[in-house]
Amino acid sequence: MPLNVAVQMDPIERINVRGDSTFALLLEAQARGHALSYYTPDRMAMLQGELFATVQALTVRDVVGNHFSLGEGRRVALSSFDVILMRQDPPFDLSYISSTHLLERVHPKTMVVNDPASVRNAPEKMFVNEFPELMPPTLLTRDLNEIKAFRAEHGDIVMKPLYGHGGGAVFRLTRDDLNFGSLYDMFATTFREPWVVQKFLPAVKDGDKRIILVDGEYAGAVNRIPAADDLRSNMVRGGVPKETELLPREREICRALGPALRARGLLFVGIDVIGGWLTEINVTSPTGIRAIKNLGGPDIAALIWDKIEKQRTG
Ligand SMILES: Nc1ncnc2c1ncn2[C@@H]1O[C@H](COP(=O)(O)OP(=O)(O)O)[C@@H](O)[C@H]1O
Ligand SMILES: [Mg+2]
Repeated sequence: MPLNVAVQMDPIERINVRGDSTFALLLEAQARGHALSYYTPDRMAMLQGELFATVQALTVRDVVGNHFSLGEGRRVALSSFDVILMRQDPPFDLSYISSTHLLERVHPKTMVVNDPASVRNAPEKMFVNEFPELMPPTLLTRDLNEIKAFRAEHGDIVMKPLYGHGGGAVFRLTRDDLNFGSLYDMFATTFREPWVVQKFLPAVKDGDKRIILVDGEYAGAVNRIPAADDLRSNMVRGGVPKETELLPREREICRALGPALRARGLLFVGIDVIGGWLTEINVTSPTGIRAIKNLGGPDIAALIWDKIEKQRTG
């Protein structure tokens, strides 16, 4: 049965056609005969408690430089859709949080993927703390003495913003790095939130593995090897995607997380694992599914639509 699908995303003209996971989802939806509508978050309006958006009919093509066509804008109640894909990229800030509140008004009558209340309640580096046995030694704080004590215990550490993304402001400090004091001051003035202090994991040189779970089940994975001159494995920072298999410890992590993700309506999730340690649970707008397919892995966009169709049509 064709579904009436809307996608809430950042401007479609700016995406990287070859790498974008949202685009992969749209291509698959279209191939299955679902009708696609497109809007950016700033086209939403809540009037007397009812959520509207000015949307445009969307056609997609897997052609760089000519990847989409849009129809005329028309204002519709978002509750008229069967499914809304919430796929705008972080930052996870008050703008993002406001979007989740707005979409919560139409979910679950309209199925929002991922469940917007759960997205709000599971910030990627916060949610991990529900699984302390799976994560590396990790401290969330802005308290100088706490960080000093953690550093004394663990030696080399990484400091990174709690709501950071794409590898932004991720620093490694060796045991006796004299820049610690200045870096502390810089974090304290730049960020209002506590930040993440984590034991440095030397295994990062062998990659930060992105593992995709669909409705709580392992669906596929890609390893990302950092560039020789960088700590960060993020592909936007020059990390190179490599084909990979799941290790037993990683299967265990997936098994441990699955029920919690399913219970929260977090249908499309990407977790990050370094040396067998869980560092992030990405629920906002995970990426990686095109890289996985390009490397000969499974078609995760198809798995996601199988799940959505099943849940929507009973
Ligand atoms: N504890 C750590 N040990 C070693 N490398 C790390 C650690 N934390 C982060 N990194 C490196 O920094 C990158 C970005 O950090 P991450 O926590 O994934 O934040 P982001 O949300 O910005 O992707 C990781 O892919 C990894 O290469
Ligand atoms: Mg990451």
